[in-house]
Amino acid sequence: MPTACLPDDRHGADLGPLPGDVQLIAWDADGAPPAEFARTDFWVPPYGAPPPPADVLRTAASLRVVQLLSAGVEPWLGQVPPGVTLCSGRGIHGGSTAELAIAGLLSAWRELPRFQAAQREHRWAAPSGGRSLDGARVLVLGAGDIGRRVGAVLRLLDAEVTSVARRPRQDVRTLDELPDLLPQQDAVVVAVPLTPQTHHLVDAAFLAALPDGAVLVNVARGGIVDTDALLAEARSGRLRAFLDVTDPEPLPAEHELWQLPNVQITPHVGGGTLGWERRAYRLAGEQLRRFLTGAPLQNVVEAGY
Ligand SMILES: NC(=O)c1ccc[n+]([C@@H]2O[C@H](COP(=O)([O-])OP(=O)(O)OC[C@H]3O[C@@H](n4cnc5c(N)ncnc54)[C@H](OP(=O)(O)O)[C@@H]3O)[C@@H](O)[C@H]2O)c1
Repeated sequence: MPTACLPDDRHGADLGPLPGDVQLIAWDADGAPPAEFARTDFWVPPYGAPPPPADVLRTAASLRVVQLLSAGVEPWLGQVPPGVTLCSGRGIHGGSTAELAIAGLLSAWRELPRFQAAQREHRWAAPSGGRSLDGARVLVLGAGDIGRRVGAVLRLLDAEVTSVARRPRQDVRTLDELPDLLPQQDAVVVAVPLTPQTHHLVDAAFLAALPDGAVLVNVARGGIVDTDALLAEARSGRLRAFLDVTDPEPLPAEHELWQLPNVQITPHVGGGTLGWERRAYRLAGEQLRRFLTGAPLQNVVEAGY
C-alpha cells in the first residue's frame, strides 16, 4: 500500500482525488517520526522545516520523493538519500511574492513611506512627481515562477522589461550580458534562487553599474546581494532598495540598513499569504498523483533549484 506522509491531517481535501489504496499519515517533523514513516514513499515536510538528521531519513527505507512546500531548497541540497527525488514548492508562493516585488517597487517610486510619514504628522506633503511604471526600464533577474509573473505585470503597466535567466531563450538574456544591461535600468528585481553561482551576484560592481537613483528589489534570498556593498550604495543615497530577504536574516536590530530612509524592509513575507496552504496541498496532491501513476514529477530539483 503506497504511503504519503503530510505535515498534518487538516488539509486532506485540498489534495484532490487520490486512489483508495493510498495511506495518508501525518508528521510535523518535530521529535520522532511515527512508525508508519518507515514505509512512507512520498513525504511532504512542513513548510520551512530543515532536513531531519540522516538517521531519521534512513528509517524511511521506502522513501522515493521529498516534496517541499518552499520554492527555496538550499538546506535540503545533498541531504536526501540517493534514489530519492527532491521537488521544490515552485508555484505555491510565486504569485504572492511577485505581488510583493511590485508593491515594493511601487512603494519606492510612488513615495509611500514619505507620504505615510506626512500622514502621521497630519501634513499634506508636497508632491514631487513620483515615477510611474510607464516607460520605466526594469531588469528582472530570474525568468521562473516569480520572474515571469513580475515581468507580466510590469509589461501590463507599460514598463520596459529585460529578463535574465540561466538558460538563454527567446526574450531571455543571460548573466554575461549584465555589464551592458545594468547601466540602462531604472530598477532591478531579484528573483533567482540562492546557488553557488548567484551568491553575491549583486555585488559592489553590479550595484556600481546601475544609474543613480535606481531601485534594487530583492524578494529571493538575502545571500544573493552583498549586504555591505548595498549598504554603501544606500548610505550614500545613490541607490534605493526594497528587501523582503536579508543577509543576515533576520536582520539584527542594530543593523544600519534599518535606519536608512531609502531602504524598505519586510520580514520575508513574500510567501505564506492567506490561502497558501490550499495552494501547497494542491501541488502536493498533483505530485502524489503523478508519483502513483508513474507520470513525470514537476519541480524536480536540478542544478541547485
Ligand atoms: N520572499 C519569499 O517569501 C520567497 C517566496 C518564494 C520564493 N523565494 C525565492 O525566490 C527564488 C525564485 O523563485 P521561483 O519560484 O521564481 O524559482 P524558479 O521558478 O525556479 O525560477 C528561478 C529562475 O532563476 C533563474 N536562475 C537560476 N540560476 C541562475 C543563475 N545562475 N543565473 C541566472 N539565472 C538563474 C532560472 O533560470 P532558468 O529559467 O534558465 O532555469 C529561473 O528563471 C526561490 O529560489 C526562493 O529562494 C522567496
